[in-house]
Amino acid sequence: MATDRIPREFIQTLLNRTDIVDLIDGRVPLRKKSSNNYFACCPFHQEKSPSFSVSQNKQFYHCFGCGAHGNAIDFLIQYDRLSFPEAIEALAKEAGLAIPQKSQTAKTSSHEDLYALLEKIAKFYQNALRQSDPAIQYLKKRGLSGSIAKQFGMGYAAPGWDRILNAFMKEKAKLSTTGMLIKKDDGGFYDRFRDRIMFPIKNRRGHIIGFGGRILNQGEPKYLNSPETPIFQKGHELYGLYETLQTERELKRIIIVEGYMDVIALFQHGITHAVATLGTATTAHHLTCLFRHTTEIIFCFDGDNAGRSAAERALHVTLPIMRDDVQVRFMFLPENEDPDSFIRKEGKKAFEERIDTAATLSQFFFQTIGTEADLSHIDGRARFVKLAKAHLDKLPEGIFQQMMFDELMKKARVDIKKPASEKIRAKPMKRRTPSNIRLAIMLLIQNPRLALQLDAPLAHADIPGFAFLLQLLTVIKEHHIETTGALIEQWRDQKEEKLIAKLAQIEHMIPETGIQNEFLGAITRLKSQSIKVTIDKLLAKAAIHGLSVEEKQYLNDLIQGQK
Ligand code: UTP
Ligand code: MN
Repeated sequence: MATDRIPREFIQTLLNRTDIVDLIDGRVPLRKKSSNNYFACCPFHQEKSPSFSVSQNKQFYHCFGCGAHGNAIDFLIQYDRLSFPEAIEALAKEAGLAIPQKSQTAKTSSHEDLYALLEKIAKFYQNALRQSDPAIQYLKKRGLSGSIAKQFGMGYAAPGWDRILNAFMKEKAKLSTTGMLIKKDDGGFYDRFRDRIMFPIKNRRGHIIGFGGRILNQGEPKYLNSPETPIFQKGHELYGLYETLQTERELKRIIIVEGYMDVIALFQHGITHAVATLGTATTAHHLTCLFRHTTEIIFCFDGDNAGRSAAERALHVTLPIMRDDVQVRFMFLPENEDPDSFIRKEGKKAFEERIDTAATLSQFFFQTIGTEADLSHIDGRARFVKLAKAHLDKLPEGIFQQMMFDELMKKARVDIKKPASEKIRAKPMKRRTPSNIRLAIMLLIQNPRLALQLDAPLAHADIPGFAFLLQLLTVIKEHHIETTGALIEQWRDQKEEKLIAKLAQIEHMIPETGIQNEFLGAITRLKSQSIKVTIDKLLAKAAIHGLSVEEKQYLNDLIQGQK
């Protein structure tokens, strides 16, 4: 993973050098609320009164409205739409620091040669297209304009086994790495793409990472794609995304279609926000990537059975990543039409009308489940609920899940149990006083410098959450962490990250001057709680098995110490 290539220490240095207030203020003008806190209208959702707050002390931002939160790196990821390594690169540039290279990074930089090679090959194919009458006639017959072919860098791989091989003779190894050649049994090589219209596939930064090729006329397979290579992973890439983002950075919606030609035909007819998967099913990774650029995804399927089952597969991939602030809809075309043929026949307006009337995820979901159960009798309804619940449990907790459960109850006209976690979640609303361990962990996360206030290391205690407290203390000391933003960075992509973020955002009402006392008080209470737990354990053991001499002495000391 890319994250592993950048040394942690460097990331910490970078966060120390960056002031999140300056960073955000340069993009979203902030107003001062108190000495340490700034606010603005949230850049991540529509609102009229400001609920986006940035803490200088914590080096952490969070929005009370939509829940967006994080440190300086997260802000660049969310606001500038950067990947993690890109965000690090941007911060390093701003701080005037060079990113230290771990051994693996050397490999990454060699990818630049692969991109450069594929760029040259794309030019070679484009040139060949200009010289091939049959290829030009084919594109004309399919209704493509010259300018759209140019915009997508389309080309032609002429017939023959060794055109690429001969033209790029010196780079045989790289040709093979990028999948442009296929190895023969006798050890020789031949061109992968022959007599095909070529579609260069770009990554988000505009580098060509592979190709798709369509046979000119008849033949199998109709489409051939580059294989998986170090720079091309089908489950991660989307055809047309780069071109789409070139037209606009912020997209109201993105349409996912099936084919290269669909993307291009839609573009040519003025629908410039379509992308296609590359001969694979849509993955969760695809969707999370798209949700960085839009809040609405529309799946577009052919109207036949294959389209239906593809839609159901898409539905299943979508459920676990649905967030409250995003929409997913499902659109079906008439039988035997794909977006390419449809828009050429019916035009942009008709296509847009279909987009506007596309089924919401909820409609499509209940419709799909409904076909598997008969709601007219009680057994059918029970089956309906059981099927639906299995899926709805996969939704992330939140308002959307709640609404889907409400809808399910309405549809089935039965009372069903909400997921257990929903019930647990309802409780803290009453603002219980937090347990000592929760209080200590929360204050420490919000003020990592508190770790320096403990004069001796804490001994382990048999209290839930205590191991995590110890871990926090160790990490803070070891990495000289001073802010919440720097602390949470140590848990990026780990399961504790969410908990830390949650505790980081709690407004605890303890005045600045009282925080240290509250923290030390909680630690003292935890220590005596720990002693009590140990005493109880020893007493229980004494009653059942008896104690050794040392244990008796220890118990005695503990009880004496308590007084
Ligand atoms: P379709 O078979 O639906 O073709 O494949 P299409 O997009 O309508 O193509 P045209 O209009 O006949 O030119 C849809 C997508 O599935 C992948 C390709 O990505 C294609 O764009 N596919 C299809 C393959 O990878 N291999 C194939 O042999 C066929
Ligand atoms: Mn087609």
